[in-house]
Parts: sequence; C-alpha cells; structure tokens
Amino acid sequence: MKIVSVVGARPQFVKLAPIHKAAQAAGVEHVIVHTGQHYDPMLSDVFFDDLGIAAPDVHLGVGSGSHGVQTGAMLGALDAVFDEHRPDWVLVYGDTNSTLAAAVSAVKMHIPVAHLEAGLRSFNRRMPEEHNRVMTDHAADLLLAPTQVAVEHLSNEGLAARTILVGDVMTDVLFEVRDQVGETPSKLMEELGLEDGGYYVATIHRAENTDDPARLAAVAAGLAAIEKPVVLLAHPRVVAKAAAHGIALTQGSLVAHAPLAYADLISAALSSAGVVTDSGGLQKEAFLLRVPCTTVRTETEWVETVELGWNVLANTAEEIAAAVTRPRPTETDAAPYGDGRAAARVIDALLAPR
Ligand code: UD1
Repeated sequence: MKIVSVVGARPQFVKLAPIHKAAQAAGVEHVIVHTGQHYDPMLSDVFFDDLGIAAPDVHLGVGSGSHGVQTGAMLGALDAVFDEHRPDWVLVYGDTNSTLAAAVSAVKMHIPVAHLEAGLRSFNRRMPEEHNRVMTDHAADLLLAPTQVAVEHLSNEGLAARTILVGDVMTDVLFEVRDQVGETPSKLMEELGLEDGGYYVATIHRAENTDDPARLAAVAAGLAAIEKPVVLLAHPRVVAKAAAHGIALTQGSLVAHAPLAYADLISAALSSAGVVTDSGGLQKEAFLLRVPCTTVRTETEWVETVELGWNVLANTAEEIAAAVTRPRPTETDAAPYGDGRAAARVIDALLAPR
C-alpha cells in the first residue's frame, strides 16, 4: 500500500503529523509531497522538525501567486509526481489551493483520492476555502469527515456513499502536544513579560479580514482597544497587507509578534485569557484546550464550538470587546472532534478493500 500525501500550507503540516505516524505504524509506504505554498521557515520547516514529520520526498517550490496561477502551477507539477509514484491513494488535506490542485490532478489520472477534513462548509461562497472544499469533496473518491455535522453536509450534497466519519486528526496532535507541554511556562509569556491569564492570543490572516484596508484597519483598532495585551501572531499575509496600507499592527493593546511553533502556540494559548482569531484550526484548538475563543468572522465551519458556548462570532470593535470579556463558558465534556485516534481510522479506511 502506497499513499501520497499532498500538503503545502501550515494547517496541513499539523494534520500530516498524526497521519504520518499512523502510516508508519501500519507499515504503509507514505510519500510526502510539499507544494511550496508556504515557504517561510516559521510556517513550514518548524512544523516538520517539531512534530517529527519526515522531510518531504518531493518539494514543488510553487510559492505565492494569484489563486489561478498558484493552483495551476501545482496542478501542472503534480501530474509527473503522481505518474512516477502511482500510489494506491492520494490523500489531500483541508481546503487550501494545494488541496484542490492535488485532488484535480489525481482524479484526472484515475488515481483514487481521499479528502481528509471533508464536509466542512461555511456556506460563504466568497471564501477561497469554500470553493476549494466543495470542489475537492465532489472530486474525491473517499470523504473522511471529522464531525457528524460534516457527514450531514456531505449527505445533503448526495455524497453519503463515499463518506466515513473518522474524527478530527487535529485532536490527535493537539492532545499529544498539550500533554508534552504540560505545566511548562509559555515562552511567549516570558519573552513579553506577560502574566498568566493577563493577555489574549490573536491571529488574523483570512483574505476577508486582511485584503480590504478599511476592514484590516478596523480589526486592528478593535484589538488595540481591548483592555489587556493582545499578542498578534502575525502571518506574512497580514504583515504585508498592513505594511502596504500603513496600518500599525502594534498600537494600543495590540502587539505584533512573529508566528510561533506549534508547541509554543499551544502553551501560549493555554496560559491566555482567550484567543481571538479568524483561523479555523485555532478555534477548535481553543475549544479542545477549553480556552474561550472569539472568532472575527461572520460564520464558522466549526459550529459545535459556538453551540457549546466556547466560541463567539464578533466583527465590530464593540462585538469583539464584548466577546473577549464575556464570562467563562459553562464547562462541558462534549467531544464533537473525536477521541484523539482519528489518524489510525484514516489509515484503516485507506487499507480497507475497495
Ligand atoms: C492559506 C490558505 C488558508 C489557510 C492558510 C493558513 C488558500 C486559498 N488559503 O492562506 O485557507 O487558512 O493558508 O495559513 O490556500 N506568504 C509568505 N510566506 C509564506 C506564505 C505566504 O510571505 O510562506 C505571503 C505571500 O505574500 C502570499 C500571502 O502570504 O501572497 C498569502 O499566502 P497564500 O499561500 O496565498 O495563502 P494564505 O493566506 O497563507
């Protein structure tokens, strides 16, 4: 059995870590292809090094570009890779341009495609991620859904026969790293002289928050007005857009900081008063760590976090201020994102006779 995993962006490296481990444990030949969508060391190499993932077998070095240019460059390069390896499965992850390119290339070469994190929907047709996930789900042969809600979305689109509920592989890696981090004080807290529970961790990188200067300025001003320090772990996209439009990412309570390695992020979030983000993964990580989350978006794919009260959608400065100071949500033992053993189920599903 040979599986080719195609990854390219930061959240995909996190999901790859437990899959790589489970593939090795099952004696499966696992080829890792990195498209090069993310190339900064702090968005890429640090995840491979820290999460014990083997170096990519193939690196396409595609880099940045408009959606069409970036996706097209990957598509063009992947044909030769799949032709050389002829895997039993191509495994694609999440909802980035790397996901779509790999799914389209593989399906056209008649190589079975499995989509990890299938069935998520924001129903916001302006998001590039929504295009990518809808098209990938409809192209793929096997849909590995993280949640019951995702299973229902796939069923509503006529895809039930190809769907399996496996749980969320981000739970696998998060629980492992949380246990490793333990009570070790957060490096970020020490570096910035912050107090336990005396700051918020923020990430903002989505196109809908960064690409319109007025929107980005309003989000930055909203975060700057919060009464405790807000450490913005600034993705290159937000740094570039802020610089282009003269928007300060360090102002008032807001302090810009480079992105963190995974374990450092988890320990920074664990000691924080809350997380403010537009990232998909971080909303869920906050919930799994039982850290209150405020999401700067008009909708979320991870609806369970909102229904359980651990996540609130907030867009204006007033909404953000109200959400971050809300009382701590009611404790819950709900586990909508699985039991931390999703990756083994993924490999079992790929090994099952077709
Ligand atoms: C991508 C995903 C998004 C995911 C995010 C995680 C798509 C459509 N979007 O968004 O779903 O949540 O990754 O971070 O695939 N850049 C660098 N260095 C890098 C990578 C990017 O400087 O290593 C800059 C470039 O200027 C680039 C911009 O960031 O133009 C955006 O990068 P891109 O890969 O297009 O998408 P992300 O915003 O990272």
